[in-house]
Amino acid sequence: MNKQIEGGSPSIIIFGASGDLAQRKLVPALYSLFEKDKLPDDFRIVGFARSEFDDTSFRERMRDGISEFGDSFSEETWENFAPRLSYVQGQYDEAESLRRLEERLEDLEPDGAGRLYHLSVPPALYASIVETLGEVGLTQAGNGWRRVVIEKPFGHDLASARTLNERIHAVLDEEQIYRIDHYLGKETVQNILVFRFANAIFEPIWNRNYISHVQITAAEAVDVGHRGDYYDEVGVLRDMFQNHLLQLLALVAMEPPVSFDADALRNEKVKVLAALQHHDPHALAQNSVRGQYEGYREIADVDAGSQTATFAALRLYIDNWRWQGVPFYLRSGKALATKSTEIVVHFQRPPHILFDAARRKELRPNYIALCIQPDEGIHLRFEAKVPDTVAEMEPVDMEFHYADNFDGAPIPEAYERLLLDALSGDAALFTRADEIELAWALIDDVIAGWQGPEAPALQHYAPGSWGPAAATELLAAHCHEWTTGCAHDD
Ligand code: BG6
Repeated sequence: MNKQIEGGSPSIIIFGASGDLAQRKLVPALYSLFEKDKLPDDFRIVGFARSEFDDTSFRERMRDGISEFGDSFSEETWENFAPRLSYVQGQYDEAESLRRLEERLEDLEPDGAGRLYHLSVPPALYASIVETLGEVGLTQAGNGWRRVVIEKPFGHDLASARTLNERIHAVLDEEQIYRIDHYLGKETVQNILVFRFANAIFEPIWNRNYISHVQITAAEAVDVGHRGDYYDEVGVLRDMFQNHLLQLLALVAMEPPVSFDADALRNEKVKVLAALQHHDPHALAQNSVRGQYEGYREIADVDAGSQTATFAALRLYIDNWRWQGVPFYLRSGKALATKSTEIVVHFQRPPHILFDAARRKELRPNYIALCIQPDEGIHLRFEAKVPDTVAEMEPVDMEFHYADNFDGAPIPEAYERLLLDALSGDAALFTRADEIELAWALIDDVIAGWQGPEAPALQHYAPGSWGPAAATELLAAHCHEWTTGCAHDD
């Protein structure tokens, strides 16, 4: 089903159009939407950046990006797509430059065109660009809508996120702001909601009475690579936990919203984030693990004595009726054994064991693994009788793989869905101001714990491992064990 784009003739203005994101993700996603006929007949993409490009050289750069990073490329589609691209060179937060952008847009647009400004620029520029857009009158919904998409990171801590929200809110209504967390654009992340709320069989057991604990893993095999400069300032908590992991947690733990409307959905996520216990940085410090892979300090632009964590594991609790006492374990790191993002929901053990064989060995509890990437799907693990035994049992898996269903159709890039939603005015898959601030409040407290007297020691781990041994102990202390329910190398 294609979404309706109000006004029918939108302009997409990419700030930072000469950068990597535009070339690798944004324009390839728009091209793919165009190829699938999901964009209106009339639309235009205007790149805006400081670099010297003209329409022709900008189109060439985008063509290279689409053919290298996009799902597909055809000369015929490109011939139709290319004329919709144009470029304006200027300074991001300079009124004069933005006036020239406005003139160009007026030349290109029909009356009443809506505008999506996508800020793919260094975060320090977000507020001043929005303020200058406001000053020049580019955010006023004259005869068409005006929306602004803002990339992550949104702030560096709670105080900076609040200031950013305040400065942006001085110019825009919250309804005009689309803060990106690209995880929300992933099909499998959206499928968490479908799995939970379009089926009647899981929700009745989705609570503390049946669930023993939940594990959320975002493991990356890649290391920090050439991003030392950015990463050493940020570390894994700010890079992955504040946004992606807490969003996954909120979707798994939230109550059913009354509708899929942006505010209904986000209200429920906010309740989960607000219910996370995190008043005591000392307790958080004791419930966490900090790791750094060996060799990290030798990377360009990384401090030789860097204390930045490239791995973290947390045990969190959600203070509400549904989840009281259920640990939520979150872990993420660079240079780990494999790339796998997964949520493994572990169920309680059966209350009464009938089988002798089961008594003799540890009965492994059932789990449901929501496989976010790369092998997208859902696995259910349960015990089965081993044939030709009296009652021996072994765990087996029932697996759903996206690749084997839906005619094997490729899973679209997250940006396709997000850009289409922003163009259609649907903010359900974007983070709201209060959500971002609550997530920062938690991360700030963990960081405060890491700087306090109870701080967990920074543990070094071998690249290609599953992180420091302390991460195993964090779970073992509660008789739990990390499970790779999707990557299957346990
Ligand atoms: C980004 C982080 O937000 O997410 C990166 O800044 C990380 O460090 C990336 O590699 C992971 O995204 P994905 O989609 O590959 O899981």
